[in-house]
Order: sequence, then C-alpha cells, then structure tokens
Amino acid sequence: MKIKYLLMLCMCFVGSLAYKPVVILHGILSGAESMTVLVRHIEKLHPGTVVYNCDKFSGWSSLENAWWQVEQIKEYIDKIGKLHTEGIIVLGYSQGGILARAAIQSLPNHNVKTFISLSSPQAGQYGTSFLHLIFPDLAAKTAFELFYSRVGQHTSVGGYWNDPHKQALYMKYSEFLPLINNEKLSSNSTSFKMGMVRLNKLVLIGGPNDGVITPWQSSHFSYFNESLDVVPFYKREIYMNDSIGLKTLLEAEKLIIIVKPFVHHLSWHSNKRVINQVIMPYLD
Ligand SMILES: *[C@@H]1O[C@H](CO)[C@@H](O)[C@H](O)[C@H]1NC(C)=O
Ligand SMILES: *[C@@H]1O[C@H](CO)[C@@H](O)[C@H](O)[C@H]1NC(C)=O
Ligand SMILES: *[C@@H]1O[C@H](CO)[C@@H](O)[C@H](O)[C@H]1NC(C)=O
Repeated sequence: MKIKYLLMLCMCFVGSLAYKPVVILHGILSGAESMTVLVRHIEKLHPGTVVYNCDKFSGWSSLENAWWQVEQIKEYIDKIGKLHTEGIIVLGYSQGGILARAAIQSLPNHNVKTFISLSSPQAGQYGTSFLHLIFPDLAAKTAFELFYSRVGQHTSVGGYWNDPHKQALYMKYSEFLPLINNEKLSSNSTSFKMGMVRLNKLVLIGGPNDGVITPWQSSHFSYFNESLDVVPFYKREIYMNDSIGLKTLLEAEKLIIIVKPFVHHLSWHSNKRVINQVIMPYLD
C-alpha cells in the first residue's frame, strides 16, 4: 500500500519534471479546435504534458485589433505562467505567433522558457494569397490605402501589413509591427527587448512551400526590400542593431531557425510527421 503510494508520487514528480506545460495560440479565422491534432499528438507522445489550447478570439474576432488581442493573450500567458513556476512553453501558429510574441515582449517578468513561432509573419506580410483569404477583393498593391488608416488599424492584419513600397506610411500609421519590432521607438521599447532576451529558446519555423506567409522568410524575420528581393534577417537592421535581441539570442545559441520545404501553411500544425520533425524536439 505504502509502496504503491510512493510509486505514484514518484511518477507524478517525474512527469512534472519531464515536460513543461504548453500554451497554444491558433491562427487567423479559426479557433482552438483547429489545433486539436497538435494538442492530441503532444499528449500522446509526451504523456502528462499539460496543454492549454487558447480559445480566445476565434473566427471573425481573430480580425480584431492586434493590441486588443495581445492584451488578453498577455493576461492568459501570465496567469498560466504563475501556475507553473518551473516555466512554460508557448507555441503560436501563423497570426497567433506574432500576437504571442508581442504578448511575451509585453511581459518583462514572464517565465516562458521556449517560444515556438510556427509559420508566423514575424517581419510582416505582403502578398495576395494571404490577403485573399480574408479580403477577397482587395489587391495587395492598394491594400495599404485601407490598412494604413485609422479604420485599417482596427484589424489585426493592418497591424502587421508591411508594404515594401510604402515604408513611410507603414512607419507613420502602423500601430503594431513597427512598435514590437522596435523600428519605431516608444517608452516600451526597452521592455520589448527584455521580454525577448529573457527566453531560453526562440524557435522560428517556416518554409518555401508555405503558400500563405509572404514572403515565407518573414517567418524568420527576413523580409522584402523595395525591389521585392528578400533580405535575410542577419542583414536587416532589426538584427544588426539587435533591436529586439535577436542577435543576443543567436550569439547565445538560443535562436533556432528551422527551414522546412514541402510543407503547406495548413500542414504545420496538422501533419503529424511535420509536427514530429519541427515541434516535438523543442517541447522538453
Ligand atoms: C539602427 O541603427 C542605426 C544607427 O544607430 C539607426 O540610424 C537606425 O535607425 C537603426 N535602425 C533600427 C531599425 O533600429
Ligand atoms: C506601453 O505599454 C503599456 C502597457 O501595455 C500601454 O498601456 C502603453 O500604451 C504603451 N505605450 C506606448 C507608447 O506604446
Ligand atoms: C534589395 O536586396 C537585394 C538582395 O539583398 C540587393 O541586391 C538589392 O540591392 C536591394 N535593393 C534595394 C533597393 O535595397
């Protein structure tokens, strides 16, 4: 009797030591249910893992203002972090990855150990295939007229729409991406960087056959210049100036860049083979 009890205690202890809790944030125009395959797979391969599948801002509400969403996600992550003092893992998919990053950057005392950005437009988005998922009649070339306005900034997409031909307007009107990327300095810039540097591991996942994130390299902080050539992240000011700590993380071997071909945007979180290769190794 006593031995059995001790054994159970032991197993619980080992279980809680082995796998950190995972917080998952879904993408645009979907909800927690879209992440079910990933949740079940983690629970199966890493038994005992506590997985929080965030159900905030599903469906159309995922288009609400980026900062408004970040405020709630921030509280959500903070609350879960306080329940698990050993540290937590946050995984954000697509738009969920850029919102999660902003939430982490806005929590200077977070205990997120690992942040996994799963095919997220971290350097912004500029392209028709993504745009037409949400605004079927809008052309990428003229979308700036909507997005770089008061009304456009009420949408999450407006917050990270990054038109390489309209950089002055982007800097002037975008209330989200230039701030969290410390391109536009504010009283929060220092803590935005601290929030990033506090991570033990930053995993950026993306690939050339994504088909939605444009350019796909935005998932690694690389981006278009004015001629629509993709400038690799290590040649961009955000890295060279260490604006948000990417350089610090890389030099400390805490930044992991994963490039995986032949994965469509809708497969990153739903194809078990892909999950095994790009996500599971970072959930410890
Ligand atoms: C990077 O640093 C240079 C020189 O200090 C500065 O002019 C530029 O605005 C900085 N860029 C960013 C994106 O922080
Ligand atoms: C800084 O962050 C606080 C808390 O999230 C926010 O209320 C404030 O508006 C931010 N300030 C700037 C200049 O963005
Ligand atoms: C754009 O980037 C490419 C590749 O880095 C470079 O060759 C080209 O000169 C850049 N163009 C401009 C306008 O910066």
